[in-house]
Amino acid sequence: MSNNTDNRFQAIISHAKEYGFVFPSSEIYDGLSAVYDYGPYGSELKKNIRDYWWKSMTQMHDNIVGIDAAIFMHPTTWKASGHVDNFSDPMIDNKDSKKRYRVDHLIEAKADVLKEKGEGDKADGLIAAMEKLLATEDYTGLKQLIEDEKIVCQVSGTANWTDIRQFNLMFATQLGSVAEDADTIYLRPETAQGIFVNFLNVQKTARMKIPFGIAQTGKAFRNEIVARQFIFRMREFEQMEMQFFVRPGTQMQWYNFWKEERLNWHLSLGIPTEKYRYHDHVKLAHYADAALDIEYEFPFGFKEVEGIHSRTDFDLKSHQEYSKKKQQYFDNDIDDTTGKPFGNYIPYVIETSIGLDRMFLLILSHAYEEETITKEDGTSDSRVVMKIPAKIAPVKLAILPLLKKDGLPEIARELLDSCKASFKCFYEEKDAIGKRYRRQDAIGTPFCVTIDHQTKEDGTVTIRHRDAMTQERIPLTAVKQLVLQAID
Ligand code: GAP
Repeated sequence: MSNNTDNRFQAIISHAKEYGFVFPSSEIYDGLSAVYDYGPYGSELKKNIRDYWWKSMTQMHDNIVGIDAAIFMHPTTWKASGHVDNFSDPMIDNKDSKKRYRVDHLIEAKADVLKEKGEGDKADGLIAAMEKLLATEDYTGLKQLIEDEKIVCQVSGTANWTDIRQFNLMFATQLGSVAEDADTIYLRPETAQGIFVNFLNVQKTARMKIPFGIAQTGKAFRNEIVARQFIFRMREFEQMEMQFFVRPGTQMQWYNFWKEERLNWHLSLGIPTEKYRYHDHVKLAHYADAALDIEYEFPFGFKEVEGIHSRTDFDLKSHQEYSKKKQQYFDNDIDDTTGKPFGNYIPYVIETSIGLDRMFLLILSHAYEEETITKEDGTSDSRVVMKIPAKIAPVKLAILPLLKKDGLPEIARELLDSCKASFKCFYEEKDAIGKRYRRQDAIGTPFCVTIDHQTKEDGTVTIRHRDAMTQERIPLTAVKQLVLQAID
């Protein structure tokens, strides 16, 4: 990261803490690495992003229904899904500091340093060499690369490395009260499997016909060894996933559909197209016949925010094999080529999978702005404003009586009472109005309404628009409708 982008990212992290968006977990005990808590405005924003996703997936698509599966699942689930055998990363330990690194992160960090020194070609060469060795699982070659590049541990400063080994990323725990009787179970590393194992329950009870989708949001857990970049890579995080079940042979058509549909969802929040790009996977996971990432330009570069995966019939087929329970669907639509029903088959699946926390970070990165304002008298001022899209902003309307007297608070509270059931409002009487505006800018409130003496005379109020900082006089009775229109 260059100094500028690094500074901007650090400023976002500090702002998130100072204004009640994100706190380090158990901070009074010095925090827990890669685990975070969401504060008053953070939890509102997170909920709004989740709701926006949920509504657009389930309410706006009449062939998608939701579920809420448990975090704990039968341990065989993870054997069938391939996570027990395949969900691991190559790691290397420094013998002096005992610190463990993910091999790709260690080499990427070296490439970043080279880029900062202006040696971009060398950095690209290093990444290309690493990708080649990772693709062939050549761990001896990777260790050699680390040694040749003289990559050292950040803690000990030495290059005294162990051999590279694979570590599973799932957290294991025990089910049962007595250790000897206990069964090892895992904290789910993805929500998707809760959908797969419920495929027939949902299909039958909601009487779904293929093509149809099942959506779910919920916590997932991964023992990320190198957890960096704030809430970008966490050990406990939340996913918003949808599995779309289709007739075999139609998967590419639906893959392309969801690729476009999901990017449009991002753009519907008013985030510019040029901040996004697709990244097609060259090396496919064992279950996929096509996959891509939707990447966003974070302050530290373009990175994955969402994955679109064509997962074939791998998961259902594998659950059928392990559970010995048929995972088939009977399709009574007529096949034009044979003139007969398509009949029984295991559906193919297109998955859309987005990290809620990562989407949250995307919104913070998009919204955070430090602005210099030229005032009417020619002097300048500055403000930090979070230009959070109005429909997901933590607070939609701040209601600010100009004075704490003359009946102004009473009018303001009446407005609050008439709006609070429809959207989140914030009421404040304290401090000068300019100071109150700044505080609302910092948490991203799109509208502030000021009740003053003129309100008593003609029933109008001043409404201030966060981004343009323009103010207009409108009837008090029009405030609720104006906000509702902006957030619909
Ligand atoms: N079911 C497919 C699946 O889990 P993934 O690419 O491993 O695919 C999907 O994860 C999304 O979950 C990612 O695009 C990312 O947004 C989010 N995600 C994955 N690991 C994460 C982590 N450690 N911290 C935060 N978000 C993560």
